[in-house]
Amino acid sequence: MKIEPFALERWMTTYETRVEFDIAESGIAPLSMNDLLALLPADERERTLARLLDLPLGYSEAPGSRELRALLAATYRDCGPDQILVTTGAIEANFLAFNVLLGPGDQAIVPYPAYQQLYSVPRAIGCDVALWRLRPEQGFRYDLDELERLVTPRTRLIVVNTPHNPTGAMLTPDELRRVHDLARAAGATLLGDEAYRWLEVPGEAPLAPPVRDLGAGTISVGTLSKPFGLPGLRIGWLAGPADFIAACWAMRDYVSLSPGKLNDALAVLALRHRDQIVARNRAIIERNLATAERWLAAHRDLVSWTRPRGGLLALLRYNLDIPSLDLANRLAEEWSVMLAPGAAFGFEGYLRIGIGQDPAIFAEGLERTAACLAAVERGA
Ligand SMILES: Cc1ncc(COP(=O)(O)O)c(C=O)c1O
Repeated sequence: MKIEPFALERWMTTYETRVEFDIAESGIAPLSMNDLLALLPADERERTLARLLDLPLGYSEAPGSRELRALLAATYRDCGPDQILVTTGAIEANFLAFNVLLGPGDQAIVPYPAYQQLYSVPRAIGCDVALWRLRPEQGFRYDLDELERLVTPRTRLIVVNTPHNPTGAMLTPDELRRVHDLARAAGATLLGDEAYRWLEVPGEAPLAPPVRDLGAGTISVGTLSKPFGLPGLRIGWLAGPADFIAACWAMRDYVSLSPGKLNDALAVLALRHRDQIVARNRAIIERNLATAERWLAAHRDLVSWTRPRGGLLALLRYNLDIPSLDLANRLAEEWSVMLAPGAAFGFEGYLRIGIGQDPAIFAEGLERTAACLAAVERGA
């Protein structure tokens, strides 16, 4: 497979271990193992730690432990463990799904801008990828009429990503049903990349149900990376019809075989305490949103955004004559701040911000960003 470079990942790896104020990060501030254990009642902590330390680190159940798959299945309607495959993050889930569902010459409809994997992998497979554009002049909303115009008899797959990376756009439950109806009428599968599931923005509408809950012809992709602050576990999953899950598993035999056994056990622990983790996320998002809105009001001549409706991400528009990659490099090198260049998403004049970072780091990152923007404006 020949595939184009993943622009954002290439850029992030240059700076993510070097900067102090990473406010480009797409997940919620990560949890440590101690944080995870602290979710347990005191009397259970030691027993759980002893069990984890004693866990023989042999190969794990290839599709993910039955306990983990049952917990994940319970988060969907009418779903059992055989309709779940645990994967190495959502990235592997998407990769398997595209390779199982698509072949050369098929048409896939994918949101744009987007997490680049969603269009680069179908292109590498030889698909004709139609970009379903979210436009700033429409407040970065999904335009359902445009989707209808993009569907053709060759459409095999429609991808939605709600809440959306990088704009924070969301589909309402009614809009999602309409997308599903369009996919069904075209004989296409609907895949929901739900990497930002369980990440509601206070004051905005609740999230639509996962795509898998809509019934026939649907697949949901999930992950512990963003909503659980556990990207280092590399635990994601697919939820779909049992025959599709079996086909993805057969392909996975050649890729990564199985999830890490310790990671699977920690994922069980995290899922059992989802409510506590969601409450923690909400507090972080609430604080960072308030900080961001104060900051945007103070610097409205230089920078603005479309407030995220869900998830953790938004595009910041800046009113300066400098390419986004130059600005992002300057922020990283001179101010130790990471904001992702819009150019990595094909959007010049923007920086992508994440609102899931530790609130103190987030606030300082924004102050330094303002100082950098002022310096660029002065021509310094
Ligand atoms: C929309 C989307 N899908 C999938 C992924 C992959 O996430 P992971 O492999 O960490 O689960 C990301 C990561 O940024 C994402 O933003």
